[in-house]
Amino acid sequence: MAKILVTGGTGYIGSHTVVELQKVGFEVIIVDNLSNSSIDVLSGIEKITGIRPAFENIDCVDYVSMDRMFEKHNNIEAIIHFAASKAVGESVEKPLLYYRNNLVSLINLLQLMPIHKVKNIVFSSSCTVYGQPDILPVTEDAPIKPALSPYGNTKQIGEEIIRDTIYANPCYQSVILRYFNPIGAHSSAEIGELPNGVPNNLLPFVTQTAIGLRKQLQVFGNDYNTPDGSCVRDYIHVVDLAKAHVVAVERMLKNETKKRVETFNLGTGRGLSVLEIIETFEKVTGVSVPYKIVGRREGDIEKVWADPTYANGELGWTAKETVEETLRSAWAWEQNLEKRNIQE
Ligand code: NAD
Ligand code: WQD
Repeated sequence: MAKILVTGGTGYIGSHTVVELQKVGFEVIIVDNLSNSSIDVLSGIEKITGIRPAFENIDCVDYVSMDRMFEKHNNIEAIIHFAASKAVGESVEKPLLYYRNNLVSLINLLQLMPIHKVKNIVFSSSCTVYGQPDILPVTEDAPIKPALSPYGNTKQIGEEIIRDTIYANPCYQSVILRYFNPIGAHSSAEIGELPNGVPNNLLPFVTQTAIGLRKQLQVFGNDYNTPDGSCVRDYIHVVDLAKAHVVAVERMLKNETKKRVETFNLGTGRGLSVLEIIETFEKVTGVSVPYKIVGRREGDIEKVWADPTYANGELGWTAKETVEETLRSAWAWEQNLEKRNIQE
């Protein structure tokens, strides 16, 4: 089976994707500099699949080391490029760190692909490129809105760099995947999200509050133009998201792509509010999440959810997990993390 390079493969979405790739027989090489993940993730992957993926502790910004890595693991057939810094607030404070890490990594890969005869690349983009869409659910051809942060800008520029490069090189192709809000963890609770410090994202904050690591969740605003006043997002189970990457890679390897650069929304098509997430979490776990309503968070989008019709039809992929199951999996992962921390 084909060899796939997964950059950022010990990260949250990457690790779940490695599991799904290995499950269908792909050989995986992970490149990660562990800037936002732990080497222990490899053991989690091994426990689930029985296979420890090849691992290279390399910074994708380091062109020479990446070149050597391609030499060493020759005949890589596709790249899934997850490696990036992703904290929106930090990107406002340290824009150059974000432009350098997210864009130089991508440019290095695109430069190295022809040298090492790699034809296919999947790129992790984000619904952040749509900003606040004028029409919901949002389709892939909706206008790209000015980015609200340097992080968001790296995704917009990243997409443009890919389009320009692939169209200039007729033998290469790319699938750009725009993720909505990935949450949850593998059903084994062996891998999941590992936020560094105080979580920025909703779900890790919910689970850390439920387990008692945080006193109270702050709900950022209840005066939005939404049914209950809190913001609405399209929360997708990370395993559903991971499976879409396998389909995207298979599609490229079988030359089934319709365009040399294809772009897909990866979402459920359903919008849920912050308050609905809290309520559903409490219902399925039986654990209460103390929260208080505070002011709006700067830069937040009021409401966004995907129209996944194009991905459903073209990829033959659909997000299948219910939000109840997804929230249960996030809770099981948080509990497992606590157990591990107590044992250490
Ligand atoms: P993550 O931080 O858990 O994973 C990213 C991984 O990349 C980490 O393991 C980190 O150590 C590694 N990394 C970062 N910079 C690197 C570099 N220069 N060289 C090598 N490794 C490097 O993040 P995630 O949530 O798994 O996100 C994966 C991708 O999906 C990112 O590109 C992110 O921007 C994108 N994305 C994430 C979300 C989300 O909500 N999680 C939403 C949309 C898009
Ligand atoms: C979800 C909702 C918050 C925390 C961010 C990035 C985006 C993408 C995903 C990568 C919002 C509310 C949150 C809290 C809260 N990443 N919230 N209390 O903002 O949709 O997107 O992550 O591309 O680019 O911007 O996700 O999980 O931070 O927030 O009330 O403590 O939860 O206001 O409505 P968001 P999130």
